[in-house]
Amino acid sequence: MPVIAVIGAQWGDEGKGKVVDLLAQEASLVVRFSGGDNAGHTVVNPCGKFGLHLVPSGIFSPHTVCIIGNGVVINPSVLIGEMDQLDRCGVATTRLFISDRANLIMPYHILLDGLEEESRGEKALGTTRKGIGPAFADKVARLGIRAGDLLDKDMLLERLRSVLDYKNTILTKVYGVSPLSLDEVYSQYCQYGERLGPHIRETVIMLEEALNRDELVLLEGAQGALLDPDFGTYPYTTSSSPLAGGGCLGAGLGPTRINRVVGVFKSYCTRVGSGPMPTELKDETGDLIRERAHEYGTTTGRPRRCGWFDAVVARFSNQINGFTGAAITRLDILDVFPRLKICVGYKLDGRTIDYFPANVAAVERCQPVYEEVAGWQTPTSHIREYEQLPLEARQYIARLEELISCPANLISVGQAREQTIHKTPIL
Ligand code: IMP
Repeated sequence: MPVIAVIGAQWGDEGKGKVVDLLAQEASLVVRFSGGDNAGHTVVNPCGKFGLHLVPSGIFSPHTVCIIGNGVVINPSVLIGEMDQLDRCGVATTRLFISDRANLIMPYHILLDGLEEESRGEKALGTTRKGIGPAFADKVARLGIRAGDLLDKDMLLERLRSVLDYKNTILTKVYGVSPLSLDEVYSQYCQYGERLGPHIRETVIMLEEALNRDELVLLEGAQGALLDPDFGTYPYTTSSSPLAGGGCLGAGLGPTRINRVVGVFKSYCTRVGSGPMPTELKDETGDLIRERAHEYGTTTGRPRRCGWFDAVVARFSNQINGFTGAAITRLDILDVFPRLKICVGYKLDGRTIDYFPANVAAVERCQPVYEEVAGWQTPTSHIREYEQLPLEARQYIARLEELISCPANLISVGQAREQTIHKTPIL
């Protein structure tokens, strides 16, 4: 059985949670591999409606083991809150494991995320202020505290003492705020360790065992390709790689083990936070998409910026991810529009281009070149067979497949698990 990576193909919030929840029915293992509690994966299934931030969306499948991989930064308090909520709803979290290599979000990361954003003024990145950037920065600066450190209280104290000294200097001397108390942070993280300890493991071994048993493994991405720190709209990006390649590093397997890469695309585009988005609609069409789709952040509640499907982004996303198929979500949101637009190129400084520029200032200047197609103006959320979709909807999907350059495996017409059309097999 193969490894399938489920990847956000745009700016995040494409519906990866739904796709993972659906595919997890057949999977023995789901590994979340990047990001932190900046992610918000909405899952609607027979267990209820959930907004998951850290727990993999496979948790609702009773036989599936879920792993929070080494590539995730974990806020223990958020994780414990999420586990408690799942337990209260009768969803067992005994099958949830945490990589001992995963870095932890510490109180100073959250403080510094906010202080750094404030200091950027008008140039603020619009982060979720969950401490994600500072935690990943500490990981590569080798200042991180990892989940495994919670299992050894002496080592935790030693590590925390040296790091906190340094962080307190920055908090007090650079930002003029109060220092954090070593005793308080230490005792808080010792408590987290007691609660999370039984879940912390060397998860690479679990992954290896599942692969050796030939079981289906899912790699669950977070955020989307255009938020990748290398390929996204830098510096308006997140701080870990949401790409399929990030799946290898953040879960702990080699690239040859991944058999399928499913890119999850909304049938239009959204973005939350700052940074360029060439197809953004600051008009009543954008408002209509937002209200119909309730496009407000699961994590921060911020209104999402909405716009037409951007095929330049989609093609780029495929180049850097190598999609074998696409899941096209929220098709039903477009049910009311008489005409739809698809961005097929950009006008940049008088030239037409078909690639996504690296330079964020150039992306800001890009004007979308649209192709217009007919809408279908009829409800689709009850439809389960591809052939039953209105002709114009099938034409729209076919055009997206052509522009992305891969087949659509799944089409989603609503939040619930069953509101899914299986167009072509993933495997
Ligand atoms: P950070 O990841 O909190 O540092 O935020 C950096 C950028 O990524 C901001 O524009 C956020 O709005 C965006 N971002 C982070 N996580 C998500 C997500 O799960 N969905 C959509 N945007 C996200």
